[in-house]
Amino acid sequence: MSQDETKRDLSPSPDEPLSCADETPVAPDQGAIVRFEGVSFAYAGAAAPALRDVSFEVPRGQATALMGPNGSGKSTALRLLLGLDHPSAGTVRVDGQVVDAALLRDPAAAKRLRQRVGLVFQDPETQLFCPSVEQEIAFGPQQMGLPADEVARRTEDCLALFGLTELRGRAPWRLSGGEKRRCALACVVSLGPELLCLDEPTNGLDEGSYGQLVSFLRAFVASGKTVLVATHDRAFAQALGARELRL
Ligand SMILES: Nc1ncnc2c1ncn2[C@@H]1O[C@H](COP(=O)(O)OP(=O)(O)O)[C@@H](O)[C@H]1O
Ligand SMILES: [Mg+2]
Repeated sequence: MSQDETKRDLSPSPDEPLSCADETPVAPDQGAIVRFEGVSFAYAGAAAPALRDVSFEVPRGQATALMGPNGSGKSTALRLLLGLDHPSAGTVRVDGQVVDAALLRDPAAAKRLRQRVGLVFQDPETQLFCPSVEQEIAFGPQQMGLPADEVARRTEDCLALFGLTELRGRAPWRLSGGEKRRCALACVVSLGPELLCLDEPTNGLDEGSYGQLVSFLRAFVASGKTVLVATHDRAFAQALGARELRL
C-alpha cells in the first residue's frame, strides 16, 4: 500500500466512495447512505427466508428506525449492511457501492466499510474481549493504525462521553448490563463512523441510561452523521425523531 493510500485509509472524507481497488469508484449517493433493492436472504437450513424482496433507503444525516416484530429480519438487515452475510437476491449499497463478497475480499475497501459503518450488536458481550475498558476502546483505533496520541485522544474522549472514565481499569465482563452497552457503543464511536447502526439498543437500559443514549444519538445526528436503529421500541424511535421503516 502506498503512503497516500495509507493516509486515505486513516482519514476517509465523508464524500469518499467505498470502492474496490480495481474498479472505477462509484459516485456517492447524495440522498441515501444505504439502499436495499429487492433484497432476499435465507439462513442456511432455514425453512423460510429471513428477508424477502426488501427495499428501503436510509437518508444521510438523519435518524432512521428499522421497526417490526421479533423475527421480521431487522438484525439480519443490519448484518447484510455490514457485509457479515450477503443477499441471495438483490443489492445492498452503502454510499452507492454494492456491499458483496467481492467488496469484502478487497482489504482496503473492507477496511473503509468497517470505518465508515459501525454496528453495536444486540448483545454487547459478543463485542467485548479486552482485559480492560480502556484497552477495549483503544483497540479499534489501534487496529486502524492511528498514531498513539490520536488513539489516546479518542479513548479519553469516548471514556468521558459515555461516563466510563472511572471504570477504565475494570474488566468489561465485570461491568453491569447498562455499562457493557455503553462500553460497546464507546468502542464503535471511537472509530469515527459516518453511519452508526444499533441493534435493539434500549434493551435492559434504566431510565437514566435511556435518556443519555437518546441525547447522544440526537447530538450525533445534529453533527451531520447518520443513525440507523433496529428497534421494536416505538417511544425510542419517536424520542430520536427517527423516520420509521417497517420490515
Ligand atoms: N443464525 C440464524 N440461523 C437461522 N435462522 C435465523 C438466524 N438468525 C435469525 N434467524 C431467523 O431469521 C428470521 C429473522 O430474524 P432476525 O433478523 O433476528 O429478526 P429480528 O431482528 O427482527 O427479530 C427469524 O425467523 C429468525 O428465526
Ligand atoms: Mg433482532
